[in-house]
Amino acid sequence: MSVSGSGVVVTGAAGGIGKALAARLVREGARVVVNDLDPEATERAAAETGAHPVPGDAASEEGVASLIERARDHLGEIDSWFGNAGVARGQGLDATEAEWHTSWEVNTMAHVRAARLLVPGWIERGSGRFVVTASAAGLLTALGTLPYSVSKHGAVAFAEWLSATYRHRGLVVQAICPQGVQTDMLAAPGPLRDVLVADGALTPEAVADVTWEALQDDRFLILPQPEAAGYYVARATSTDRWLGGMNKLQRLIESAT
Ligand SMILES: NC(=O)c1ccc[n+]([C@@H]2O[C@H](COP(=O)([O-])OP(=O)(O)OC[C@H]3O[C@@H](n4cnc5c(N)ncnc54)[C@H](O)[C@@H]3O)[C@@H](O)[C@H]2O)c1
Repeated sequence: MSVSGSGVVVTGAAGGIGKALAARLVREGARVVVNDLDPEATERAAAETGAHPVPGDAASEEGVASLIERARDHLGEIDSWFGNAGVARGQGLDATEAEWHTSWEVNTMAHVRAARLLVPGWIERGSGRFVVTASAAGLLTALGTLPYSVSKHGAVAFAEWLSATYRHRGLVVQAICPQGVQTDMLAAPGPLRDVLVADGALTPEAVADVTWEALQDDRFLILPQPEAAGYYVARATSTDRWLGGMNKLQRLIESAT
């Protein structure tokens, strides 16, 4: 991918994976806009990475429209969009309607809304890149995070649809699907974090490195922990065995609490 001078937006980039992605893209010569909810945190991340801050909501219809407009004011054309903002809300069947709503808005609908505004122009000019930070939870499932898993499955499904529909028109779509990553999202103590950390939580910079490699060959699935590919195959080909394994993990978590 030639990023030198290209215009890139990274949402949810005040810290964690988004900030690491922004830093790497700036280092590689891109002109990057970083976005996050909190204006001061967004400005700090911009100053640290060499990006330009555009704070605001990257999920609602109005928020996405405003972000794209302000990013275009700064960048001119947006060549690549990294929809990275995400939330982990609610745990199980007791998750509230509000937790479900926020999960859908940020983890799924944000991508639909950004693509709706960006893709027509990209098709006209024959190029554009849309990268979704989904999760291994969106390919497999994650115990103890029901709205997160379901809304991340939605994110992966949307990215698949976009790629299948528009790849012949010059659109590159990619889905980053990490397992554990050492960020604020994984900071809350609990059995799930213990499982994910034990399973090899990566630094955000390592995720950015793997993503950078994947930008060179345009592969759809970006798996910072390559073993996730094996789990994905097992889920598809031996589904009941795989579900039995997941349930064993659930019982382990229950016995540890
Ligand atoms: N940390 C992990 O283990 C892990 C694993 C797989 C996938 N992910 C995904 O990676 C992405 C980045 O998360 P992270 O791990 O760096 O955690 P993080 O909490 O540091 O980053 C998420 C960011 O998104 C921002 N955000 C939330 N709602 C927003 C909105 N409406 N508009 C703009 N910004 C918003 C938050 O303020 C936060 O800064 C998320 O989509 C997350 O689901 C994380």
